[in-house]
Amino acid sequence: MQEFHFPNWVNRFTVILIFGGLAVAGYLATCLFAAIHPSIVNVGYQPKQPVPFSHRLHAGQLKLDCRYCHNTVERAGHAAIPATSTCGNCHGGDRVVEGVSLGVIQGESRLLTPVRESLESGNPVEWIRVHNVPDFVYFNHAAHINRGVSCVSCHGRVDTMEVVTQVEPMSMKWCLDCHREPERHLRDPALITKLDFVPPGDPLEYGKHWKEELKIKTNVSCSTCHR
Ligand code: HEC
Ligand code: HEC
Ligand code: HEC
Ligand code: HEC
Ligand code: HEC
Repeated sequence: MQEFHFPNWVNRFTVILIFGGLAVAGYLATCLFAAIHPSIVNVGYQPKQPVPFSHRLHAGQLKLDCRYCHNTVERAGHAAIPATSTCGNCHGGDRVVEGVSLGVIQGESRLLTPVRESLESGNPVEWIRVHNVPDFVYFNHAAHINRGVSCVSCHGRVDTMEVVTQVEPMSMKWCLDCHREPERHLRDPALITKLDFVPPGDPLEYGKHWKEELKIKTNVSCSTCHR
């Protein structure tokens, strides 16, 4: 019986097919990993902080404006985490620093020990970051805050959160979805930190009004966010 041989080119083709297939499978697996890995899609991320600071109490019940503590959001790319001296205005443990007497609220509270220690030593409280986009992405708070996009569109109802949790994926698709159709999220910039605001009448008409009023032109070209 005569032995059958594939021509040589078939062998090479088979090899290419197998390795090509493996490469594609590997690529897809990597993409899938990237898509579901918690460090990349952080929805629900809620680290344990050194002080159990409650936004529900301070921003919700006490109605402190977000900018009382995050006082750079309107001017800078980053929203500053407040210095301990901001907490000291109310929780200073009755100390006098540089001639100013600090607040006495919960002055003995054990939960506030790291705050009092930080005021004493000058070392900051080591808050753990909740939100983080990769370094190759350019994001800027002021570019949104001054253009009618409220904190609530990106961070949810922080004023009802006992512990801050990431509620949006902060993926490229998420950024682009809004940049393609910003009118669903626009409002009077004066109401930017009013997280419970409900637009009067038809929300879409309201957004369109502010899109025109503020002459919003959102950009989806790559260099907007990758520069
Ligand atoms: C009394 C000061 C204070 C006020 C008022 C305040 N915050 Fe904060 N915020 C903090 C501190 C301290 C942290 C860091 C600890 C933490 O994550 O809870 C923080 C963290 C955050 C984070 C998470 C930051 C990260 O690490 O990614 C967001 C988002 C945020 N605040 C939004 C808001 C919004 C929106 C408002 C207004 C509704 C607000 N904050 C009002 C003090 C404040
Ligand atoms: C404008 C005043 C004010 C500022 C500023 C403020 N707080 Fe408070 N804080 C309060 C009040 C009022 C309470 C509730 C006190 C009570 O329940 O008796 C409170 C309660 C707390 C508690 C709970 C204490 C306990 O033992 O129950 C913690 C923790 C706390 N604050 C942390 C912070 C931190 C951290 C900052 C700075 C980022 C801060 N606060 C800034 C007014 C303030
Ligand atoms: C258009 C979406 C968007 C809006 C609106 C927005 N944020 Fe953010 N915020 C982000 C993103 C994205 C990050 C992560 C930034 C990074 O990793 O560089 C972030 C991070 C933060 C942080 C952590 C510090 C920092 O800058 O990285 C704080 C605090 C914060 N935001 C507070 C606020 C407050 C308060 C408002 C409203 C006054 C607000 N944000 C509005 C998207 C938004
Ligand atoms: C909820 C809506 C919304 C989301 C989500 C959003 N943006 Fe924007 N973005 C806007 C609007 C509105 C403007 C202002 C456009 C203008 O000024 O005409 C803007 C402006 C910007 C600018 C400034 C543009 C310039 O030309 O200087 C940058 C950069 C930017 N966005 C990056 C991002 C990134 C990165 C993300 C995701 C992490 C993001 N945005 C998510 C609505 C959004
Ligand atoms: C509105 C902001 C925005 C624009 C415009 C934008 N990107 Fe991105 N891009 C992001 C963000 C945010 C991430 C990070 C996503 C993450 O961490 O999951 C990202 C991630 C990426 C990555 C890394 C791989 C990935 O998917 O995570 C590549 C590659 C990329 N972008 C290419 C582009 C190209 C090409 C364009 C133009 C066609 C573009 N981007 C336009 C916001 C943007």
